[in-house]
Amino acid sequence: MDRIGRLTQHDLQNIYKSGEKIVCLTAYTTPVARVLDKHCDLLLVGDSLGMVVYGMDNTLGVTLDMMINHGQAVMRGVKHSFVVVDMPYGSYEHDAADAVMNAKRVIDETGCDAIKIEGGLELLHIYHALAAAEIPTVAHIGLQPQSVEKEGGYKLKGRNDAETAELILAAQEIEKTGVIALVIEGTVEQSSRAIVDAVSVPTIGIGASPYCDGQILVTDDMLGLFVEHVPKFVKQYAQLAQNIDAAAAQYSHEVRAGVFPSDAHVYKRAS
Ligand code: KIV
Repeated sequence: MDRIGRLTQHDLQNIYKSGEKIVCLTAYTTPVARVLDKHCDLLLVGDSLGMVVYGMDNTLGVTLDMMINHGQAVMRGVKHSFVVVDMPYGSYEHDAADAVMNAKRVIDETGCDAIKIEGGLELLHIYHALAAAEIPTVAHIGLQPQSVEKEGGYKLKGRNDAETAELILAAQEIEKTGVIALVIEGTVEQSSRAIVDAVSVPTIGIGASPYCDGQILVTDDMLGLFVEHVPKFVKQYAQLAQNIDAAAAQYSHEVRAGVFPSDAHVYKRAS
């Protein structure tokens, strides 16, 4: 794909209108962002970094400073993709003024294009406040990882008519606030399809069927690097954990055997 300059909100809208799929992945560091940038329309600095980078049990311990640091790192590696940074747990859901202040910090300090928050109808006032402050916002509905403790686990959504109706209503009301896109996570195919049909804003699915206008995966999942828990919706396109294991084993063998470093990796005085 040949593109000049970073994608804008308008470009994403055009991809959506053209019927082409919007390709998204998560990124947390500069070198990985550089590689993914060529292939993606949108990179998300997801708070999944709590688990896949920091080894936390869930995303609840991620801080605003962590998101800003990783947002800055990703921005240094990106030339083409639209970049979204997640607002972490506790930084937006309690108070609209806090949400706006923290979202502005993320945008000002990282230079990213938009922020993402998790929440449905219960956060409509926050979506409105972000819109009033002209903060480009992506909504995350369906399974919301930041609600893991409240819900007692990661629960699939849209399992019945009532849940589906609530998701559709939430998507429609959130759309009216002017969000750029809707991430739909962990939602039954029929329900996810009904949401996609009910809105006119790009939908990005993760475990939410091929009907979404785009797809996203956690990069460490799809690279086979984070293998502690592999959800059904993850396809592994590489086995990096195995590759790293093999490389480290070979390195340790060569160091112990005195094979590394060899002359090729040693500085010698020119004589
Ligand atoms: O934190 C994250 O990585 C996300 C996803 C949508 C993948 O929110």
